[in-house]
Amino acid sequence: MLYNPTESISPDIPVHGVHSSSDPANAPASLAQAEATFRRYFPAYARTCALDALRATEYARLDRAGHVYLDYTGGGLYADSQVRAHTELLLGNVFGNPHSTNPTSLAMTHLVEAARASVLEFFHASPDEYAVIFTQNASGALKLVGESYPFAPGSRYLLTFDNHNSVNGIREFARARGAQVIYAPVLPPDMYTDDEKLAAHLESADARAHNLFAYPAQSNFSGVRHSLEWIARAQSHGWDVLLDAAAFVPTSALDLSRYHPDFVTLSFYKIFGYPTGIGALLARKSALAKLHRPWFAGGTISVASVQSERYYLHEGSEGFEDGTLNYLALPAIAIGLRHIAGIGLETIHTRVHCLTCWLLNSLTALRHSNGAPLLHIYGPVTTHRRGGTITFNFYDPDGMFLDHRLVERRANAVNISLRTGCFCNPGGGELALGISAEELSSCFVRYDDRLTLDEFRRCIDDKSTGAVRISTGLVTTFADVFAFTQFAASFLDKRAADFWSDLA
Ligand SMILES: Cc1ncc(COP(=O)(O)O)c(C=O)c1O
Repeated sequence: MLYNPTESISPDIPVHGVHSSSDPANAPASLAQAEATFRRYFPAYARTCALDALRATEYARLDRAGHVYLDYTGGGLYADSQVRAHTELLLGNVFGNPHSTNPTSLAMTHLVEAARASVLEFFHASPDEYAVIFTQNASGALKLVGESYPFAPGSRYLLTFDNHNSVNGIREFARARGAQVIYAPVLPPDMYTDDEKLAAHLESADARAHNLFAYPAQSNFSGVRHSLEWIARAQSHGWDVLLDAAAFVPTSALDLSRYHPDFVTLSFYKIFGYPTGIGALLARKSALAKLHRPWFAGGTISVASVQSERYYLHEGSEGFEDGTLNYLALPAIAIGLRHIAGIGLETIHTRVHCLTCWLLNSLTALRHSNGAPLLHIYGPVTTHRRGGTITFNFYDPDGMFLDHRLVERRANAVNISLRTGCFCNPGGGELALGISAEELSSCFVRYDDRLTLDEFRRCIDDKSTGAVRISTGLVTTFADVFAFTQFAASFLDKRAADFWSDLA
C-alpha cells in the first residue's frame, strides 16, 4: 500500500537529533541536549518532577533492567509500595470469605466495602447515584451490561466504529434479542467521530424503546478523546449511555459529579498496575434497575428455591457479582487509588501531554533522504483532544509499509516494550488502514472456515493489517520517549525489501 502523506504539525519545537538522516545539521543530539530543549519548550513538565523521583524509587526496577516501557494502554505499572502495603495487610491479618458474621469474614467485608467506597470517591460519584460492581476486568463489566440490557425489537444499540472488541461484542446480545445495531463512523486520518452522523443517529431513536449508546472516552487505537458532552446529549434523546473508560482513566480525571453516564467500565490494572484481575462497572442505580440478569449464581440471590424454582436477586451491586469475589485482592484497589490520588491525576495528565506533544513533533519530523515521511500516524498529529496513545506504521522511502511484526521484533531486541496489531479495536484498524467492508466481507465469505490471522492477512493482500502502538503513562520519562525516537530513526532510508528475510 502506498503511503498517502498527511500534513504534519508545524515544527516550531526543535526536535533536535531526530530529523532526516540526510541533513548533517541534524546529527543525533545527546539525550541531555534534547531534554534541555524539551524542558525549555515545555515548562509545565517541571511541575511533574515528583514523578521522576517516584520513577527512581518506587519504579526503579524499570531502569535497573534497562526497560523502555511504552505500553501503558496495555497495562499500567505498579509502585513497589503498593505491593508492600498489600502484602503487609495480608501478612498481618486473618481474612475469611466476606459476607458472614464471623470475625475474619467481617474484617474482609469491611475492606471490600472500603474498596467500593474508595472507587466512588476517586470518581466523585455520589453513593446515592452510583453503585460499584466488581468484575474481573473491563470486559467482564461490559458483558454484564450486554447480557442484561433489555434489548428488544424496536430498540437500538449504537456504537462508534472506534471501540474495543468487548464493546463490539455486545452487538451479539443486541442482535439475538432483535435490536438494531448501528455503527457511527469516525473519520480518518484524525479518527474523530463524524459529529453530524452521530448527532443524526442520536436523534433518530424511538424514545419509547430501550436504546443503548456505547463509546470509549479515549480510543485505545488512535488515542482520540471522544467528547464527554455526548453523554448528556444522548440521554436527552432517550439513550442509556455506556462509557468505556478503560483507556481514559489512567491519565485523565473522570468526574462523575459532572458527567453522568449510565454505565462506566474500567480495569484497575490499567490505572495502577496491581492487582490484575479486577475491574468495575459503575452503574447509575436507576439504570441498574433496568437490567435483567439472565441467570443467578451464588452470592447474587437473597433467596432461591429448588422445589419452587423461584429466586430473588439481591438489589444493587451484589446481584451482579457472581460467586466469590476476588476478595483478598480488593484491598489493593483502595491502596492503588490512594497512590494515584496522592500523585494527582493533573500531574500525570500534564506529563503525558508534554511527552506526547514532543513525540508527535519528533515522529512527524522524521524524513527519509528523499523527503518522504518515515511514519504515518493514525489519529491526531496534534495534542488536540487526544491522549498519550500513538499508533502508526513505518514506511520506506518508496512508500512501502514495513511490517509491524518486524518493527516489534526489532524493538524487543533493544528492550522497548510496545504493542503491535489492531489492539482489539478492529473498527479503528479497518478505517485507519483503509480496508473496505467489501474486502473484509469477501475474505469472510471466501473462507467459510475459521481463518488464522496470517491467512486473513494474506487474503487482505498487500494491505498492512496492523500497526505499531506506543503509549506513555504514569512514570514515562523524557529518556523513554527519546529512546523511542532514536529507535524509529534507525529505519530511515531502509527499504522494506531489506527486511523480508527478517520475517521469513
Ligand atoms: C478502551 C478499552 N476498552 C476495554 C478494554 C478491555 O479491557 P480488559 O482486557 O481489561 O477487559 C481495553 C483493553 O485494552 C481497552 O483499551
